[in-house]
Amino acid sequence: MTTDAGEGPRRPRLPRKPHYLSSGGSKRVLLISGSTRFASTNSAFVRTAALVAPSPIVGIVYAGMTTLPHFDPDLDADSPPDAVVDLRSAIADAHAVLFCTPEYAGTLPGALKNLLEWTVGATVLTDKPVAWINVAADPRRGHGAIANLETVLGYVQARIVAEACGSVPVPRDAVGPDGLIADTFVRERAAGVLQTLVR
Ligand SMILES: Cc1cc2nc3c(=O)[nH]c(=O)nc-3n(C[C@H](O)[C@H](O)[C@H](O)COP(=O)(O)O)c2cc1C
Repeated sequence: MTTDAGEGPRRPRLPRKPHYLSSGGSKRVLLISGSTRFASTNSAFVRTAALVAPSPIVGIVYAGMTTLPHFDPDLDADSPPDAVVDLRSAIADAHAVLFCTPEYAGTLPGALKNLLEWTVGATVLTDKPVAWINVAADPRRGHGAIANLETVLGYVQARIVAEACGSVPVPRDAVGPDGLIADTFVRERAAGVLQTLVR
């Protein structure tokens, strides 16, 4: 099994805000990577998607994954933690949500499942157009994560836009030191996915 122990770009200091915007526009797509690894191919795909989002689409990379607390029904009360409020606002304010996740142990990374658990009670994903992209370099991999993601998205009654979902293979060496993907084909696919998702 491939592991994440390899060398990659160093994690840069990012601005202390929950998410950041690409250039202007009017259709907001929240981009959520299921990986917490800076050199992640999944995170690189969502960063690149934000960069190439065609107007009027604005790609917003969710950057709060590592600061979300573990889901706790006792915290999901009148005053949930700030990180949870930020997450729910980011989803509620978005026209659509795009997920891009690695597979860990046959299913979703715990961090992404945790994020999704915080959305259940708030119903912010109900009827929300959503899609997923599998960037596994070998497109035969990652299907356990996608199947489980679809199960959870179905449970929260998100509207999965099937035409926007699919495989865009991204080898690890396609991620540059800036954490972006320069490959023209990947950039075109990312832009196309966003357009299909908000259509
Ligand atoms: C803890 C761990 C468990 C993994 N489990 C699986 C798995 O069950 N199936 C699979 O296809 N790949 C598995 N992988 C490989 C990752 O899904 C793969 O390397 C992925 O491309 C990593 O995405 P990233 O570049 O966004 O970090 C695992 C990796 C790690 C670190």
